[in-house]
Amino acid sequence: MGQIIAVAQQKGGAGKTMIAAQFGAALAEQGRVALLDIDPQGSLTAWGRLREGAAKANPGLEVIAVSGWRLANELEKLKSSHDYVLVDTPPVIDSDARRAIRGADLVLVPMNPAPPDLWAAEGTLKLAAEERRPAALLFNRAPAASKLRKRLEAEIAARRLTLLPVALANRAGYANAFADGLGVTEAGATTQAAEEVRAAVQALRALLG
Ligand SMILES: Nc1ncnc2c1ncn2[C@@H]1O[C@H](COP(=O)(O)OP(=O)(O)OP(=O)(O)O)[C@@H](O)[C@H]1O
Ligand SMILES: [Mg+2]
Repeated sequence: MGQIIAVAQQKGGAGKTMIAAQFGAALAEQGRVALLDIDPQGSLTAWGRLREGAAKANPGLEVIAVSGWRLANELEKLKSSHDYVLVDTPPVIDSDARRAIRGADLVLVPMNPAPPDLWAAEGTLKLAAEERRPAALLFNRAPAASKLRKRLEAEIAARRLTLLPVALANRAGYANAFADGLGVTEAGATTQAAEEVRAAVQALRALLG
C-alpha cells in the first residue's frame, strides 16, 4: 500500500502546486508516484500536459484530475497501485480538500517563514487534527538564515508542531523547471535546487516512516 500526502494550505501562492510537482518528480526517481489535482484552477494538470511534450519528463509520473464524490475512491485505487500519491489542494478548505485530508497519511503544509502564512495554516492544521491526521509544516521560499525564520522555528517548536527539517529556498530554477513541465530533478540532476528537493523528500520519507 502506498502513502497519501495531501499538500494543503489556505494561503494562496504558498507553493502547494510547485511542491506537489517537485516532490512528485523527485519521489518518482525511486518509486511509483501519482499526482492528484483537486484544485479547480488546474495548474498541476496543466503542468502534467506540458510533460507530454517534454523529453526529460519521467513518463512513470502520472498526473490525474479528480473532484467530488469520486475522490475518496480514486485515492484508495491509486494508493493500491502507487508508492506515493500527492494531492494538490485549492487555497480553500472545501469538501474536496476535507476528503483529501481525511484520506491522507500526512498533511504537508507549505508556508513562507512569516507570521501571515502561519496564521493562514491554522485552519488546515485544525482540520488535520480533527481528522487525526499527522501534519508537517514546510518552509518554502525560505531565506537561509533570518531573524524571522528563527522566530517562526521557535514558535513552531514551542507549539509542538512538526516542521520538515529541510526548507526550500526561493530559486528561479523551480519556476523555470515548472514552466517546462519538469521537476528540478529532471531539468538538471545536479543543481542546488535538485539536491534541495531530494533532501526534502528524504526528510518527508523519514517522517512517513
Ligand atoms: N521555492 C520557490 N522558488 C521560486 N518560486 C517559487 C517557489 N515556490 C513557489 N514559487 C512560485 O510561486 C508561485 C506560487 O506557487 P504555487 O502556484 O505553487 O502556489 P500555490 O500554493 O499552489 O497557489 P494557489 O493557492 O493559487 O494554488 C508560482 O509562480 C511558483 O512558480
Ligand atoms: Mg496551487
